[in-house]
This record gives sequence, C-alpha cells and structure tokens, in this order.
Amino acid sequence: MHDFHYSGSELFCEAVAIRSLVEKYGTPLYVYSQSTLTDHFQKLDRSLSTLDHMVCYAMKANSNQAVMRTLADLGAGFDVVSEGELRRVIAAGGDPRKCVFAGVGKTEAEIEFALKHGIYSFNVESEPELARINAVAARMKKRAPVAVRVNPNVDAGTHAKITTGTYENKFGIAYEKVEGVYSRASKLKNINLRGIQMHIGSQLTDVKPFERAVAKIAPLVSKLASRYGFEFISIGGGIGIVYEPALESGEINWWKTTAARKILTPSVYATTLVPMLQPLGLRVLLEPGRFIVGNAGILVTRVEYVKRTGRKNFVIVDAAMNDLIRPAFYDSYHQIVPVAAKGGARIPSDVVGPICESGDYFAKDRPLPKVGEGDCLALLSAGAYGSVMGSNYNTRGLAAEVLVHGKQSALVRRRQSLDDIWKLESLPEWFR
Ligand code: LLP
Repeated sequence: MHDFHYSGSELFCEAVAIRSLVEKYGTPLYVYSQSTLTDHFQKLDRSLSTLDHMVCYAMKANSNQAVMRTLADLGAGFDVVSEGELRRVIAAGGDPRKCVFAGVGKTEAEIEFALKHGIYSFNVESEPELARINAVAARMKKRAPVAVRVNPNVDAGTHAKITTGTYENKFGIAYEKVEGVYSRASKLKNINLRGIQMHIGSQLTDVKPFERAVAKIAPLVSKLASRYGFEFISIGGGIGIVYEPALESGEINWWKTTAARKILTPSVYATTLVPMLQPLGLRVLLEPGRFIVGNAGILVTRVEYVKRTGRKNFVIVDAAMNDLIRPAFYDSYHQIVPVAAKGGARIPSDVVGPICESGDYFAKDRPLPKVGEGDCLALLSAGAYGSVMGSNYNTRGLAAEVLVHGKQSALVRRRQSLDDIWKLESLPEWFR
C-alpha cells in the first residue's frame, strides 16, 4: 500500500497536494510519504513477531537522513555497505550497534571505522576479507563480529543485474566451501563468529526462491551454529514490490485492482519462512530496502515539450536518467500519472528526458492522457534506488527531496546548485 491518492482530480501525498510542493520546490522533485514508510516497516516487523529478530533496513535503497530517522525511530537497524553509509547512520541518529556491514570490497579504513563504532556484524564475502578484518581487529585489540555470506547457488528468478545468489555472481562464498571457511575462521584469534548470512537477489515477487535457499542452507546453519555458538542468521533483503498496475487505467491504488494477482506480502513471506527458521533457535535478521521505501516515494516532473515525430508521440519532461536511472539500466517499469488527473482518450507516448542519449526514457508507447507544456507528471514507486542512483550527467544538479507527514511537508534535501556540481573541480595552474 501507499499514501499517494487522488482527491478530486488532484494527486496528493498524505494530506498534501503535490501541486503545492511543485510550486514551492520546483521539479524534478522526489516526494516521500512518512506514513507509508512507517506502515511498510511495521508490517514486516510485526510479521516476524514470533521470532527474535532485527530488521536492518538496506539503506542503499534510499539513504536520505529523514527516511533513515523515520526508520531508526521505529527501531530499525541498518545494512550498510560503506563508511559513508555508516557515517550517515550516525548522522541520522541511528545506532551503529544495530548495523551489519556488507559488500565485497571493504577497505582497511572502513573496517577500522566500523570496529571503532561497535557494529553488530560484518557480512564477510571472502577469505582474504576475513584475514584483513582479523588483522585490523588485532591491531585495535578487539574481536570483530562476523557472519560469512553463503552463496547458496539458488536462482532468484529476477533481473540479471540484481541477481546475487548464483555462482555467476561475485557475492558470498560458495555453499560447498562455507564449512571449511568457518573452520579456518574459528582459528583466527580476533574473529568472533557471530552468525551466517545470505542474500539471493532483489525484487523477488515469489517466495519460492527464498524458500529454496533457506531449505538448502538450514541444515548447514544448524550444524555450524551449534559448533561455533552463533547468535544469528540473516536472510538478506529482496522482497519485491508492485510497480505495474494490473490495468493501465490510471488507477494508482493498485492493491485494490491487483487483488487477484500474486503479491509477495509480509504475511506470505513470514508464513513460509518463519516455520523454517524457528527450529534453528537463532535470532533472524532481515535486510529489506525496496520493500520499505519503494512505493513510499514518487518523482515529480514537468512537461517541457510534446513532440510528434515519425510514428511517435514524445513527451519531453524535465527529469532524466540522471534523476532516475532504473528504466534505462534495468528496463524497469514505473507507472506514470498526471498530477492533475485528466479524462479523455489515452495516447501512446514515449516519456523521455532531455539527456543526449536514446536510453534516456521513462516509458515507451505508454497510454497517457493528453498532456501539454507545464503539466506535471508523477513517476510512481520511485522511492527505492531512485534518488540514491542520481548523477550529475549532462551537468544536471541532483533533484530536491521532500518528506510529507500528514499535512506537513519539509525539504529534506535541497536541490543541488550548479556551483555545488563544479566546486570540486579546479584548473591546473598552467591554464591561468
Ligand atoms: N542485502 C544485500 C546484501 C543487498 O545486496 C541488497 C541489495 C539488499 C540487502 C537489499 O535488497 P532489496 O530488499 O532492496 O531488494 N539498483 C537495483 C537494486 C540493487 C540491489 C542491490 N542489493 C534496482 O534499482 O532495482
């Protein structure tokens, strides 16, 4: 569910008209709903209530500090992948002791920083990394808490660029090798074997791959847990969301029109996995990103031109692939709706940005109401992997971000100015 809806013909986020935000902050503009964030976090958290568990929000999905603070206040931990992300947790008022540190390329400096701040666990992706963590911890006279990331070689059945749990991928340690790695790790003096971790991919809309992966690793986990006295198992993130409505009817409250469709809800997820996890007797960690924030954000953009050429109707908007790269990068679908609803016939349209690449599009041949210069459109389900993947390509500033809370709204990231973009650059003295 989400808290974007029409009231009359106007698109609202909670009790705030999107038009009023456009007037105040301009476009392109990311708008996030705090109640949606809260609702999604709590639904997932409650579905696991029979287990000792911790939800570590994968902040790579959206690391705006206001989003993070919302979740930290609800008790979330965080899944971080860099020193920068861990510093953001601290800046946003989160607790480093509830953080897991993932990623295949942790530097010495990052390991040292994480150890200094007492993180919950490193998710270790290779033996050289284990050796490095041990060495840094020894230097600091500490014991580093670690979990080895198991690659179960189970296909998540999702887009190739976001599949992580097969032997084609760079992630984790092959299932068959894990036992040996734990045995060698147990001899490292500055390593504390605290748990085990897996993550098979992102945007999974079926529970079966999760089920297969948990079933595959459970016997190994149970053996290793008793041998080394583990405390936790992390089953990663990856719960998918609905991007595409069942019908292209302009209906944005898709949970009403998609009732017959299979959706991976927290209750389906928990009903399947909790009975498999419970007998392990371990604390269960989850690392959801998209599920929490994906449907909680939209990207609002203004139409600059409408152009008919060849056989196509192009709607040229002021947002571009530098603001939301998912369609260009993953061919992903984002529903597009007008900020002021319009009746009338729908015209197949290509919605494109101003960047000089043919890949700079948000939709192709999408039936849209007739729009003209100055009209605003909203790209839905843009809360996850939207703003965070933004860039300055074509010397375009990063979009502004707003958080809505009931009737209130606040700018939570100002629009990046052009000065901000080039202030890191300098000309060599021989040009002066
Ligand atoms: N844990 C690990 C180890 C991960 O690598 C990821 C995502 C997550 C958790 C969170 O996954 P989620 O619950 O959000 O599916 N940019 C892509 C998605 C990349 C996902 C990377 N890893 C997209 O826009 O679809």
